[in-house]
Amino acid sequence: MKKLLAMLLVLTMTLSLVACGTQTADQPKEPETTGSESTAPSEEPSSSNTVDVGIVLPTKDEPRWIQDETRFKDALRSTDYSVEVLFSQGDSAKEKQNVEALIAKGMKVLIICAHDGAAAAAAAEAAKAEGVTVIAYDRLINGTEAVDYYVTFDSIAVGEAMGQYLADRAEGKGNPLYLYAGAASDNNAFLFFEGAWNVLQPKIADGTFVIKNSSEAVALQNKATLTRDEMAKIIGQVTTNWDFNEAKNKAEAHLTAAKKADKGDVFILAPNDGTARSIADTFAADPDVTSYVITGQDAEKASVQYIIDGKQSMTVFKDVRTLVNDAINMAVTILKGETPETTGAYNNGVIDVKAKQTDVIVVDKTNVKSALIDSGYYPASEFTGLN
Ligand code: GAL
Repeated sequence: MKKLLAMLLVLTMTLSLVACGTQTADQPKEPETTGSESTAPSEEPSSSNTVDVGIVLPTKDEPRWIQDETRFKDALRSTDYSVEVLFSQGDSAKEKQNVEALIAKGMKVLIICAHDGAAAAAAAEAAKAEGVTVIAYDRLINGTEAVDYYVTFDSIAVGEAMGQYLADRAEGKGNPLYLYAGAASDNNAFLFFEGAWNVLQPKIADGTFVIKNSSEAVALQNKATLTRDEMAKIIGQVTTNWDFNEAKNKAEAHLTAAKKADKGDVFILAPNDGTARSIADTFAADPDVTSYVITGQDAEKASVQYIIDGKQSMTVFKDVRTLVNDAINMAVTILKGETPETTGAYNNGVIDVKAKQTDVIVVDKTNVKSALIDSGYYPASEFTGLN
């Protein structure tokens, strides 16, 4: 019976993977101008019937997560455990199906990066009910007791690094500031925004920056610390949903609404690399924008090229190798029956989830070569114009 159920689940998943492959027109695409990352081979549920460590990632439509898959595969070659990586394609129902398929294969540890931090609670609970240890990877799962550990970058520091980069480059008063945020369903979007606000708010209050694209942010600009609800109001207005096209459409609408005097030398808080590239392209195309400083995050290859070319100012480099190794080491420790090492905790609304945190590095034109090429993260042959 159990075997039959497992076979049925594998079949359902294979079918849904095939279905998802044929619906590409509905999926967000990277604009042509942003260049393209190599797409990893589409994952099939592995033919092996057992899985020790199941890994569920949010989407293949952002190079960031393809990068994680590659790094996981590299890291896992050195362990004896069987592993399977599945993608949820921005769909919480599919995410839960993926988790169920892995449970049916006997998964003992789940490493999951939620598409939607609240909706993923159901998937985590399904795993927990079967005795699986649940590790939230990069994004916290909220509102449930069913998360054992959280492996993450320091996301407040990510936002602070972005804010600081903008603040360090603004001279005088009245610099136009355009704010963009990630998806409200992603807990990280709040942490990134909180970090950026920590640095930008005093500079808005003292007149260095003037917010040009969010009435909610303007209404709250004198508050040094925002509640989650207050942040949700701003994020609701300036969210990109982590989607290149949504980012582009919003930026276009903001520039259409803005007067010439609201442009000139502008400062843009963009929440990650994919959205940074499409927002940067949109601002670059506006004749009234004389110059722009724009943030980013993830050190995606296409953005590294943008930085070399002077089209994106910076990125926050999150060394996925470290995060992947932390997650794998944690999984292996758990499989051996030992307790993994943690460095702190994050409250998910219900419990404090023990966490292992990793630092981030700011990368711009001045250190792109040393941080990303000389460190062995990317080969120089992937880029043009590197000196
Ligand atoms: C976040 C993640 C970032 C970024 C973003 C868009 O949760 O921490 O690295 O990639 O999602 O997917």
